[in-house]
Amino acid sequence: MITRDEILRWLTETDVARLEELWTLADAARKQHVGDAVHLRGLIEISNHCARQCGYCGIRAPHTGVKRYRLSADEIWGCVERAVEYGYGTVVMQSGEDWGIRAHWLAALIRRIKTETELAVTLSLGERHADELALWRAAGADRYLLRFETSDAELYGRIHPGTDGQPGRLDDRLARLRVLKELGYEAGSGVMIGIPGQSYQSLAADIALFRELDLDMIGVGPYLAHPATPIGRGEWVQPLADGEQVPATELMGYKVLALTRLVCPEANLPSTTALATLNYESGRELGLMRGANVIMPNLTPPEYRCLYEIYPAKACLQESEEDFHQAIRRRIESVGRTVGTGPGGRLTVKG
Ligand code: 5AD
Repeated sequence: MITRDEILRWLTETDVARLEELWTLADAARKQHVGDAVHLRGLIEISNHCARQCGYCGIRAPHTGVKRYRLSADEIWGCVERAVEYGYGTVVMQSGEDWGIRAHWLAALIRRIKTETELAVTLSLGERHADELALWRAAGADRYLLRFETSDAELYGRIHPGTDGQPGRLDDRLARLRVLKELGYEAGSGVMIGIPGQSYQSLAADIALFRELDLDMIGVGPYLAHPATPIGRGEWVQPLADGEQVPATELMGYKVLALTRLVCPEANLPSTTALATLNYESGRELGLMRGANVIMPNLTPPEYRCLYEIYPAKACLQESEEDFHQAIRRRIESVGRTVGTGPGGRLTVKG
């Protein structure tokens, strides 16, 4: 098993030829543990309302420049039907932390998806109450995504104001992940790469924490500055000195993805939209070649998609859904992979 020192060494490696070795190791681990299938998860951004004030995020509560929307059950159902039509195995319902999404309302929708389709249901709705998480699990939800963003508790507190005016607590986030696992969800988490103030040591600790938490899904992507946010404007946190600050680059994104595959070989890892945003031509394919086995095509109705602007120029805005759907199959096959069928949950028994 790869050690913390080796993780650190790869994170700071700049020699392109040596990095080929890392890509090869990650691709081999991917093939051995999760095979050639690339699972498609249809992403439905069900609301951009958010109660939180995360310093980097474009849909943070204080950002008044964004028009807020919340999809109706009928609108969501339309997206679900398209997921079925396209042969996807999973729908992911994601939103800001929107308390206007009522727990029973969503439970009824989950129940309908689970009774009328074969789809797996993933939720990504922020730090909701344990009883709500339990209600949705009982309604049939299979998985929940909640990134911890950074394992550095001090940095976490500085970029995430809490709802009580105090700095947000990493421990609360980690406790919620434990609740999710206890409820029987497949649990997903992840981090941003290159947030100002993030050191190589802290990023290496993030990757080590993925293993410790025994996560089923891990999403990692470069931080992208949003000019309408405090951190995007250079407030709240400052970059560390040269050589200490992790750069928010495409290359660093692939390194973290590849290392994540090595430390959590069985996990489902998406080739994230943040990577595709930095390299629209081939970011998704390179992610698939360097550890990823999941792609999350965006099914949000086009009239709302631009409003879910957590960072500027999200890659998914640039093409129609139908075109994307056709292109993504070709792209998957072009790198020698197959399109996964079925829900595509974690394959192996944990432990
Ligand atoms: N840049 C990159 N990723 C971001 N996220 C939110 N804002 C940004 C940003 N400015 C990520 C967070 C969140 C996920 C849904 O999107 O990691 O958990």
